[in-house]
Amino acid sequence: MKKFSVVIAGGGSTFTPGIVMMLLDNQDRFPLRKLKLYDNDEERQRILGEALAILLKENAPDIEFSFTTDPEEAFTDTDFCMAHIRVGKYAMREQDEKIPLKYGVVGQETCGPGGIAYGLRSITGMMEIIDHMEKYSPQCWMLNYSNPASIVAEACRVMRPKAKVLNICDMPVGTLRRMSQIIGKTPKDLEVRYFGLNHFGWWTSVKDKEGKEYLEDIKAYVAEHGYLTQIEVDTQHTDPSWQDTHRKAKDLLAVNPRYLPNTYLKYYLYPDDVVAHANAAYTRANEVMDGREKTVFDAAKAIVAQGTAKGGEFHIDAHASFIVDLARAIAYNTHERMLMIVENQGAIANFPDDAMVEVPCIVGSHGVEPLAQGKIPVFEQTLMYQQLMVEKMVVEAYQEGSYQKLWQALTLSRTIPSAKVAKAILDDLIEANRGYWPELT
Ligand code: NAD
Ligand code: G6P
Ligand code: MN
Repeated sequence: MKKFSVVIAGGGSTFTPGIVMMLLDNQDRFPLRKLKLYDNDEERQRILGEALAILLKENAPDIEFSFTTDPEEAFTDTDFCMAHIRVGKYAMREQDEKIPLKYGVVGQETCGPGGIAYGLRSITGMMEIIDHMEKYSPQCWMLNYSNPASIVAEACRVMRPKAKVLNICDMPVGTLRRMSQIIGKTPKDLEVRYFGLNHFGWWTSVKDKEGKEYLEDIKAYVAEHGYLTQIEVDTQHTDPSWQDTHRKAKDLLAVNPRYLPNTYLKYYLYPDDVVAHANAAYTRANEVMDGREKTVFDAAKAIVAQGTAKGGEFHIDAHASFIVDLARAIAYNTHERMLMIVENQGAIANFPDDAMVEVPCIVGSHGVEPLAQGKIPVFEQTLMYQQLMVEKMVVEAYQEGSYQKLWQALTLSRTIPSAKVAKAILDDLIEANRGYWPELT
């Protein structure tokens, strides 16, 4: 069996140890010969790199493991790049969340003004790693889940149209786990139809492999409980603030009972509730810094101090195995059906061809083939069109260095009540993002 060389870009990510553990757990399905971490923050990555070096030596000595900040070393002789970079790290996520809240506006990692700010930072970082990949391993595929995925995907479409980058999100994966628990199935038993933009879509069908439709059963449950489940099957999204989000799906279904909603729609359909429940002094960035980030980096330091990883400090991120499914689909031409972020080109019949949409696709060694989802109703279409234009205008503003366009993009976002508020937030974001954003004139 062929063995693969993988580089994880954003090696210092809080998700890196869980994903490495998951890759080790999947050696029978996706064997590795080389595993490299790449980051542009030497110190942050070294903490995880040293701990993982110990873990790999103990558990998988045949896999050649290294970590580096040198692009040539990282990207030479690689088959897959798993990308999860966060340009500006948690310090900037905190700004993205807190600045809008000062003006009574949703402060969120990927939605509204926070997502736009993050997008303008991510584009530079993403283009940088795509260029490294293309220079040193032109045959390599990038499996990208760096956020904000919708803006990143649009930037890739416009700025690197030929790059071998596949954009994917784990929210539908986590929510499908919840749905499968609700109806007593496993995610692999189910096949869905879905349309939307990233963090902005709906399930129109959830069937088992025999063709039995479960949409109405799941809706009946969600109308009462949202996506809260008895057993925690979606291990990625478990903190109390995430439980609020799963519960809120009930209100999302109330306004549009036709389809099952993506949880992220709460930021667009109930921004007032979101702001009312927010603590502007302690946002999700603070929760993660005090929670996941601390836990993961403390675990790494403990492994290095003990000189062994046998104490079970790192945990397998089993939910991330969809990334192996994706890599396998390309490596072995499995034709796996997965939700991907792709150029529409007719998949949603009454939506622009050049929109980056999230729809089920067949994935094989040639790349992705979107499956036709037909025409969508006017309510969803209108919401999506407005959000699509926000995302497109952000990328245009980036390319043109245009203050005016970015102001318009913010004004168009459903999360912002007026052009006046949009301008005030924009001016604060420009200050906070100096050195990260292109200069705007
Ligand atoms: P993190 O800050 O812990 O890790 C990100 C790492 O990226 C940091 O070590 C940072 O130094 C590094 N980095 C930043 N800019 C870089 C560049 N230009 N080149 C190389 N490395 C760079 O963040 P995290 O919370 O672990 O999240 C990582 C990413 O994964 C984020 O973009 C997050 O939004 C994304 N994510 C996406 C999904 C999804 O569904 N698509 C799910 C979970 C996380
Ligand atoms: C979901 C989304 C990701 C997002 C993450 C945030 O998984 O699909 O795009 O990055 O949630 O989770 P966090 O725990 O960092 O708030
Ligand atoms: Mn996502």
